[in-house]
Amino acid sequence: MARSSQIGATTGPGFGVYVHWPFCLSKCPYCDFNSHVRAKPVDEARFIAAYRTELAHRATFTSGRTVSSIFFGGGTPSLMKPSTIAAILDAIAGHWQVAADAEITLEANPTSVEAERFRGFRSAGINRVSLGVQAMNDVDLKVLGRGHTAAEALRAVELAASIFDRYSFDLIYARPAQTAAGWKEELEAALLRSKDHISLYQLTIEDDTMFARLRDAGRLALPDPGRARALWDVTQDVTAKAGLPAYEISNHARPGAESRHNLIYWRYGEYIGIGPGAHGRILSAEGRRAQATERHPEVWLTVVESDGHGLIEDDYLSTEEQGDEFLLMGLRLSEGIEPDAFQAMSGHGLDPRRVASLIADGMVEYTPRGRLRVSAEGFPVLDAVVADLAA
Ligand SMILES: C[S@@+](CC[C@H](N)C(=O)[O-])C[C@H]1O[C@@H](n2cnc3c(N)ncnc32)[C@H](O)[C@@H]1O
Ligand code: SF4
Repeated sequence: MARSSQIGATTGPGFGVYVHWPFCLSKCPYCDFNSHVRAKPVDEARFIAAYRTELAHRATFTSGRTVSSIFFGGGTPSLMKPSTIAAILDAIAGHWQVAADAEITLEANPTSVEAERFRGFRSAGINRVSLGVQAMNDVDLKVLGRGHTAAEALRAVELAASIFDRYSFDLIYARPAQTAAGWKEELEAALLRSKDHISLYQLTIEDDTMFARLRDAGRLALPDPGRARALWDVTQDVTAKAGLPAYEISNHARPGAESRHNLIYWRYGEYIGIGPGAHGRILSAEGRRAQATERHPEVWLTVVESDGHGLIEDDYLSTEEQGDEFLLMGLRLSEGIEPDAFQAMSGHGLDPRRVASLIADGMVEYTPRGRLRVSAEGFPVLDAVVADLAA
């Protein structure tokens, strides 16, 4: 994997707020995110009230933080009214100081209907959008079950570029029947439309999705390991040549344009998550807390209304668990991890024999500054490398 030499923000991970909007117009056959389709219009006023309640609850144990990033994810948060976004941002600003340069991202589906709301989102306070383009041709968009054409998606990207200083879009690769030559051409065309950030996800077949059922029935022609590796190599080569090397296993940016919010996760910083099925990691005097909310949207609403928050999990992590999470998240980054930080968190150092063996196999390496990172050869098998180190 070509390397982003240095990731922009170096002043610590910051404090992030994640807001989950759990609804979509239809369910994509590959997706296992907490997203639901509803026949009736969603009662946004009721959701605003519940988000406010959750924010007030989280503020009771995170006072004094300065919010460095806010992320509206989903589901499809571009289906929310701009006034709903504005109400949530107001509530956040009522509980914490929000940094003047806070990154405030909205995930958007690139349909024309949602693009019409972009100006409204900017007026509400959004300053970065992340669009789910997924593919640049209509045949593959149909296979992926998307509700937009390539032309419509690219119009949405153009509009986003004219309204927001910062925008990114997602593509999924290693799609059924995709060739390395076709992907190279498609990715080069995509990079001409991107500014300084792009997310490129290898298609993962998640359990209990339509794609898993099709695969099990032998009806999904997925790339074999050789072709998957060729597609990965094309991804790294083309993005590096375009000046957007990988700074994380699936995320590419010009130095300085990385997603600051996602860096909080990968650098194992502090964040709260509100809305159905949202996660948080918070530091307190007693240790690091792992939090998660009720996943089902309507159940979440009633739980928040009755209990004053939607948390169904709020546990202190053991030092071992913290060390494992720190490795799992940090080794996704091209900058790697600080071994001393791992030691401080987990109470023990990395196993020197395992590290030596992974170095000998060319899977990990030390940087000149003493950080440990996964090598270009190790990234395609990242899960195995992390499992080996964490064991
Ligand atoms: C929260 S999701 C979707 C945001 C938005 N609703 C959309 O579809 O454009 C964020 C991104 O994850 C990626 N993604 C979701 N499921 C995936 C899968 N099974 N394999 C690879 N990428 C996936 C897609 O690129 C998607 O844009
Ligand atoms: S990929 Fe996006 S639009 Fe499709 S179901 Fe998942 S969250 Fe919804």
